[in-house]
Amino acid sequence: MKPDAQKWQGLTEVVSIGEVRPGHYSLRICAPEIARISRPGQFLHILCGTGTAPLLRRPISICRADPASGLLEVIFRVVGEGTALLSRARPGERIDVMGPLGSKFQLPEPGHARDAVIVGGGVGIPPLLFLAEILRKEHPGADVHVLLGGRSAEFILCDEAFRSIGCPPEIATDDGSLGHHGLVTDLLSLRLSRNTVGMVYTCGPTPMLKAVANLCGRAGTPCQASFEARMACGVGACLSCVIPTRGGYRRVCTEGPVFPADEIAWHDVQE
Ligand SMILES: Cc1cc2nc3c(=O)[nH]c(=O)nc-3n(C[C@H](O)[C@H](O)[C@H](O)COP(=O)(O)OP(=O)(O)OC[C@H]3O[C@@H](n4cnc5c(N)ncnc54)[C@H](O)[C@@H]3O)c2cc1C
Ligand code: FES
Repeated sequence: MKPDAQKWQGLTEVVSIGEVRPGHYSLRICAPEIARISRPGQFLHILCGTGTAPLLRRPISICRADPASGLLEVIFRVVGEGTALLSRARPGERIDVMGPLGSKFQLPEPGHARDAVIVGGGVGIPPLLFLAEILRKEHPGADVHVLLGGRSAEFILCDEAFRSIGCPPEIATDDGSLGHHGLVTDLLSLRLSRNTVGMVYTCGPTPMLKAVANLCGRAGTPCQASFEARMACGVGACLSCVIPTRGGYRRVCTEGPVFPADEIAWHDVQE
């Protein structure tokens, strides 16, 4: 997956922010230069505070980009200092954003789309909404099946938004509080057994990515996986984000986050 050298950095205005699930926030900013060129799979590198802490930017995937209005949306879970600060941003404030960064999901050539299955878990779900929207728009003839998984109902993000674009998701939760009681990979096994799937796109926790890649490998179905590894510089300089591939270590921030699943050395990937 080729990274795109085009990126922009500067102050952007917060348009809205709201809690969409307990501890999960939707942030919309106005950044026409980024919205114009963003593609599914790419992420923003956000300076979360206005002071010196935290010093480093935090990577958050693009969930929606509207070139017409210049609006971008991200959805994030508060897990530490950076995301807690970001959740306290208010409309009208300006935050420093760099993007779009990283590689994109590879979409089919026009006229060659086959059924796509999207498998998302936890905070890996938001970037897949952007992907589903673009697949629906650019490949209206192809079926897009969405499978979402989480620990419980409150960790299932964007389900209404998927419904609103004509991709009603099948849901699996570990505790059975919503949808299938079990893993999202149970739903994927069923889909793959029908033998009509042309491509699987996935983003979520590493154990889920591993299981998805394993199922796709056994079924002979191509798969693209997007990683949300820890990052520091975000621009390829520090090597803090590398993952093992069959061709050696690769940087998630510049050569990823999206990789063909069969290029990853899954046995060596840390969970
Ligand atoms: C390409 C990419 C896209 C991402 N997209 C999203 C997104 O759309 N929504 C979202 O909520 N999060 C996303 N993340 C994860 C997000 O970047 C981290 O949660 C965030 O940087 C944590 O910053 P913090 O300062 O709040 O927490 P920190 O204080 O840095 O860490 C708090 C705790 O979270 C753990 N942690 C931090 N980063 C990660 C990580 N990447 N994976 C697993 N554990 C981590 C730390 O080990 C620590 O235990 C993405 C990460 C990457 C690399
Ligand atoms: S975060 Fe520095 S090289 Fe990827």
